[in-house]
Amino acid sequence: MTLTADDIDAESLHSDFAEAILAGLSQTARNIPCRFLYDARGSELFEEITRLDEYYPTRTEIGLLNAHGIEIAKLAGNGCAVVEFGSGSSRKTHILLDHMNTASAYVPIDIDDAALNQAVAQLKQQFPELPLHPVHADFSHGIALPREIENAPKLGFFPGSTIGNFELYAAVDFLERAGSLLGEGSHLLVGADLQKDLDILLPAYDDAKGVTARFTLNLLHRINRELSGNLEVERFKHRAIYNQRIGRIEIYIESLIDQDVEILGRRFSFGKGERIHVENSHKYTLPQFRDLARKAGWETDQVWSDADDLFSLHFLSRV
Ligand code: SAH
Ligand code: AVI
Repeated sequence: MTLTADDIDAESLHSDFAEAILAGLSQTARNIPCRFLYDARGSELFEEITRLDEYYPTRTEIGLLNAHGIEIAKLAGNGCAVVEFGSGSSRKTHILLDHMNTASAYVPIDIDDAALNQAVAQLKQQFPELPLHPVHADFSHGIALPREIENAPKLGFFPGSTIGNFELYAAVDFLERAGSLLGEGSHLLVGADLQKDLDILLPAYDDAKGVTARFTLNLLHRINRELSGNLEVERFKHRAIYNQRIGRIEIYIESLIDQDVEILGRRFSFGKGERIHVENSHKYTLPQFRDLARKAGWETDQVWSDADDLFSLHFLSRV
C-alpha cells in the first residue's frame, strides 16, 4: 500500500499522541499537552463552549472585530494573505475577511482536520473567489507556508487567546517563530484575554451545563478510542482553578477514587484526588502582553479592548 502525504501526517500525529500520553502520565506531576483536546469531538465541544453565556471571550472578540474591522483592514494593507493559527471553525475569519475585501488568500492552520475541512467548505461558499490553502499541522512544531502565498504580504491571525494556552516562555517562542514564518514586513492580529474578577473568570471555565467538563473529559474518551484505554470516564472529574501568582486558569482531570487504568497495555495507578494537568489559559494585562510581543520581535501598533476590559485585540508589526 502506498502512503499519501496525508496518511503519513495522520500517522505521525497519532504516534505523537501515544508518546505524549505515556510520557505525561509517567511523570510525578502528570500532564498532557492541551493540543490533544482537539480531535473531531473536542472541536465540536469547543464550538459549544464558545456559545455559552459564561464564555465571554468569543462574543467579546467578535464584537471587537466588528467594531474595528475597517481599521484593521487599513492597517493590514491591500493584497494580504491571511494566515490563521488554530483556525477551528474560522467563524471569526468570516468577519475579518468581510472587511478585508482585497485579501489575496486565506491559509487556515489547524491540528484537527475535521474542523479544518468543515471550515474550508463553509468559506468556499461565502468567499468563492478567495484562494484557500488549508494546512493540517501542529503549530507548536515547525510549519511551512504554501508556495502560492510566497510573494504576498502576510497578515497572521491568532484569535481566541489561544496564545494564552502556551506557558509564557513558549508564547514568546511561538511569536518569534510566527515572525520568521510570516517574514519581513508582516503583521499579526492577536487576541489576548485580560485579567478580571474571579466571578466572571471561573464560570467561563466551569459552566453550569457542564460543556467545559465534557470538553476536558473527552480527552479520556479519546485515549480509550485511539490508545486502547480502559478508563471509566465517570470516575474522573473536570477541575478549573485560578492560579493567582501566575495569572492563569489551570485545568485538571481529577481522579474521584483510587483506581488502576490501562493504556496501550501499560498500567497507571491514580490515588483519589490525584490530578492530570491538561490546560493553562493565561490572562494578561495590556502592558504585560505588549512586553511579551516585544520580546518576540513584534511592535504593537494598535490595541483595542471592550468597554468592560474583558478581552483585547493587538495589531502587531514585525520589527
Ligand atoms: N480560532 C478559533 C478556535 C480557537 S480553539 C477561535 O478563536 O474561536 C483553538 C484551536 O487551535 C482549535 O481549533 C485547535 O484544534 C487548534 N489547535 C490547538 N493546538 C494546536 C496546535 N498545536 N497546532 C495547530 N492547531 C492547534
Ligand atoms: C482555545 N482556548 C483559547 C480556550 C481558552 O479559553 O483557553 C480553550 C478552552 N478551554 C476551556 N474552555 C476554553
